[in-house]
Parts: sequence; structure tokens; C-alpha cells
Amino acid sequence: MPRDGGRYFDGTLGDGGHARAILEASAPGGELAGCDLDPAAINRLESAFLPYGDRAHLFQRNFSEIDTICLMLGWKCLDGIFLDLGLSSPALDDAQRGFSFSKNGPLDMRFSPENPVTAHQIVNTYDAARLAGIIRTYGEERFARRIAERIVESRPITSTVQLSDLVCAAIPRRSWPERIHPATRTFQAIRIEVNAELGNLEVFLPRAASLLAKGGTLAIISFHSLEDRIVKQFFSSTRVTGASLRGLPPVEVPGAPKIKRLFSKPLSPSADELQRNPRSRSAHLRAARRVS
Ligand SMILES: C[S@@+](CC[C@H](N)C(=O)[O-])C[C@H]1O[C@@H](n2cnc3c(N)ncnc32)[C@H](O)[C@@H]1O
Repeated sequence: MPRDGGRYFDGTLGDGGHARAILEASAPGGELAGCDLDPAAINRLESAFLPYGDRAHLFQRNFSEIDTICLMLGWKCLDGIFLDLGLSSPALDDAQRGFSFSKNGPLDMRFSPENPVTAHQIVNTYDAARLAGIIRTYGEERFARRIAERIVESRPITSTVQLSDLVCAAIPRRSWPERIHPATRTFQAIRIEVNAELGNLEVFLPRAASLLAKGGTLAIISFHSLEDRIVKQFFSSTRVTGASLRGLPPVEVPGAPKIKRLFSKPLSPSADELQRNPRSRSAHLRAARRVS
């Protein structure tokens, strides 16, 4: 629980809901450093967080730069670090951002307009084998090869609805998933590739663990099994190093931060929360505490 006088970090500010809760719970003296890659999110929060004065420090940066952000503030350690991975609702709802398969827009999918790679480039330039690899690995999509071939045959592909329609056509109707749109997995895969999402998380975790104060908590909400697996593996290593992330057995390195999981299974949203916020349906929360 955030406490008065503590220092906290929210690496995925989005609409500011969690950051606001941290600032409220740590009033009157707690401080929060927060970042988001999306300049629109930072602009909105700069005015919304004016009432918190110099308790809130906002940056348009990647959370993998947590160490630089702390350095800029002169902070040596943090009492709590939080990520709520993925996409914000305002970004998903804005057709021009290109994240939604149901609203027509350009193939963009970048969290930050400074990102040099767009979904348009990936969809229109990667060869079929590379596309299939991304869709299979990041989307866990069985029909990855058929979808990739259909994409290559249909070029140029310029809009989200065009991409969504051809993914639907590539998957046999009898195999369409029951609970999600047939293009969900392909869109997720392309978004992960555009934004290098898994790489950012892998860089962030060891940096975050070494910035945690003893007794401090690292909490992460993830939305798909690839992210959750990375967090789970990191949390189950005793003394954490980057090596434990690359599929190698956990390594005990003297002097490296030691963290301990707070619960072994991830927490999922309650039925009540699901009713209020159906987009939270695949959320998994994991948390760990630094013990030495
Ligand atoms: C699910 S939203 C966060 C919602 C937020 N917790 C709230 O209460 O409104 C995720 C946010 O993380 C941002 N994001 C994703 N990857 C990022 C990264 N590597 N660095 C900084 N921000 C990132 C996205 O732009 C998005 O705004």
C-alpha cells in the first residue's frame, strides 16, 4: 500500500487511473514519477494532475528508461513500481491510431509517434516467413502461415479494416474463435512487433528490481501469456539478473537484488470488476517484494 512520504513509479500512465490512486493513497507527502510513450496521454495528464503540484513528475519516455528517469529526479530508490501493460482505452478508441480492427483507420499501431516503425511498414514489407513467425509467436495464432500468405498476396494493405477482413478470410469459418474477433491475435502480434513490447519489458525488469528499496513492491498487470511468462520467470528467480530472462535457469548472483513473489498464481479481475470494465477480462496481476 502506498504510504505518505514514499516514492513511486508508474511506467504506463495511460489515462492516469492507477497513478491518481497512488498519489491519493500516499498523500500528503508521497511522490510519483510516471511515464508514457504516448504524448497525448502526457498532455492530458499535465493538466489533470495540476492539483498534485510537485508531487507528480511526468515524462514522455519508455518505462525501460526507469533508471534515467530516477537519475533525472535524483532518486536513488523507489518504494513501489507499477506497470499496466498494453494499450490505453483512448488509444484503442481513436481510429486514427490504427489499433482497432473494427474502426477503419491507417495501419499505424505506434504507442509513440517517434517510433520509426509502423504497422503499415511491417504488413507491406516483411516477407511471408517473417510475418508468419511474428503472428505465430506474438499472436499464438494457429493459422499464422495462411494469414501471412494472404497478407503478401493482398498488398498494398492500407487500412485496419482491409487487414481485418483478409485475416477473417484466411481463417476457415469453422475455426473462428468463439469469444474474440478472428483478427484479435494478428493485430496483437503486429502491435507487439511495432512497439518492441517484450524487449522493453525484459530491459525494464532487472532495472526496476535494482531500484526497489528493501521492502518495496514491484507490481505488473499483463494482458497476454507472453508478457505474463516473462514476469513470472523473472519473479521466480531468487537473485535476479538479465540472464534469468533468456530461458536460462535462474542464477544466484551475490549482491544482485533479491525479490520474493507475494502470491504464486496471478490475480485476475473479480466478476464485479469484469462487469464494470469488460476490457480487463484477460488481465493478470503479479507482484513481488524486494527482500534484500
Ligand atoms: C493499459 S494503459 C495504462 C492505463 C493506466 N494504468 C490507467 O489507469 O489509465 C498502457 C499505457 O502504457 C503505455 N505504454 C506501453 N508501453 C510503454 C512503454 N514501453 N513505455 C511507456 N509507456 C508505455 C501505452 O501508451 C498506454 O498508454
